[in-house]
Amino acid sequence: MTRVPDGFLWGASTSAHQVEGNNTSSDIWRLEGSGIMTEYSGDADDSYHRYPEDMRLLADAGLNAYRFGIEWARIEPEKGRWSNAELAHYRRMIDTARNLGLEPVVTLHHFTSPHWFAEAGGWTGDDALERWRLYIERVSSILDGVSWVCTINEPNMVALMQMFLGGDISRDDLGQGLTLAHDGPLTPDVQLGARLVEAHRIAVEVLRERTSAKVGWTVAQQAFTPTPGNEEVFQKVNWAWEDQYLEASRGDDFVGVQSYTTQPVNAQGPVPHPPHPDNTITGWAYRPDALGIALRHAHEVAGVPLLVTENGIATGDDERRIAYTTEALRHLAAAVEDGIDVRGYLHWSALDNYEWGHWGPTFGLIAVDRETFERRPKPSLAWLGEVARTGAAHIPAGTASFAPEASAETAPDTLFSAGSLVGALLDDDRSRAVLDDAAPGIAAHPMIGMARGLSLETVAGMAADVLSAEALAELDERLRAIV
Ligand code: BGC
Repeated sequence: MTRVPDGFLWGASTSAHQVEGNNTSSDIWRLEGSGIMTEYSGDADDSYHRYPEDMRLLADAGLNAYRFGIEWARIEPEKGRWSNAELAHYRRMIDTARNLGLEPVVTLHHFTSPHWFAEAGGWTGDDALERWRLYIERVSSILDGVSWVCTINEPNMVALMQMFLGGDISRDDLGQGLTLAHDGPLTPDVQLGARLVEAHRIAVEVLRERTSAKVGWTVAQQAFTPTPGNEEVFQKVNWAWEDQYLEASRGDDFVGVQSYTTQPVNAQGPVPHPPHPDNTITGWAYRPDALGIALRHAHEVAGVPLLVTENGIATGDDERRIAYTTEALRHLAAAVEDGIDVRGYLHWSALDNYEWGHWGPTFGLIAVDRETFERRPKPSLAWLGEVARTGAAHIPAGTASFAPEASAETAPDTLFSAGSLVGALLDDDRSRAVLDDAAPGIAAHPMIGMARGLSLETVAGMAADVLSAEALAELDERLRAIV
């Protein structure tokens, strides 16, 4: 067993604009309903009022952390007009999380800015950095006791989005919405990136002076891989998309790793995800192994402790969410085994939410009825909570070498004997069907799910509540008959 660091965070993430509702003073609110943002955020999930319920669901499931955003546009709805009531609101959120046993991970900027800030030129406006500093100073006053603060979410996506928020690029160019910018032929604006680095440094300086929080920012990672002969383009793409931002993290307390999929880079740059039945609702390739690539790359370039601040999948099939996350966690475990300092895993997202112009892509562990705001936890919430409760101290070893082919080499005499790889059984459709028939839901059971790559003996020990010794023997018989 590999021991994860003490205080490992297991949680879920949201951003203010995507869940709160009625963020009427923000720039994005004013862009909704036009261009590529065809749908409105409206009341969103009404999490502005219902955050205690949301937090309680996470805590009751067994999670110990919640990442949420503070909305600058509420704190300073008009230039220089500050709202103490809104600051108090966010302080109550911090206290509520704490009281429920959730470590608050607070994001100070997640794509949205106040409308007046955008109208004055956004990040490149004349007094942008001064206004940003004033906001950070104000917000520092409510961060007492907060241990984790993310300054700017995905500055690399901010540097990319700037180009199409101007309206030059049509929805057809992007497909499903802003998120498909990850696929676009565009590239983040390097100058704007440099501005954001300056903004980040200002925030780090103020926060270090005024709070005791660990400070970092979060970077969208595409887990790029080079195609043969294109190493040079790959290096350039990596720099423009990620390394400019990861390098700026050196000296920070951590960097937030945000990973969903991976993309090859050819001579033209990132290769768009080809259509494939496995693609997720956002059109991205189903590649849970991306998290491992992203963690290793962030470690190599930034060299600071890592916190997974987003990882997840847009799907209507919750079993697929569990399968994706299981696999992603296995790659996280492998990175930990290799000595990479990972401090936590925060799943995107706690709730189905407003995906920047669209409600279609559902990333949540909890569904929300958009009329009544009723919360409906999906099985994946209980699953992740159980992983947190039972796996918070340990995550499975042996994962570094996990690969479906490895099981074939092992060729155990008895399929379900000690030494056989459970992963081989779960990855084979027929044997999985037999397993599920014999013990319904077994493949989705957290201990089994986390345990591919472990010997059955270990799994049986861990999952004694799922399978009896007799059931194992019987399964062994049946499986030998079909494999
Ligand atoms: C953003 C989230 C977004 C998620 C899924 C990240 O780029 O931080 O706001 O919902 O990816 O697209």
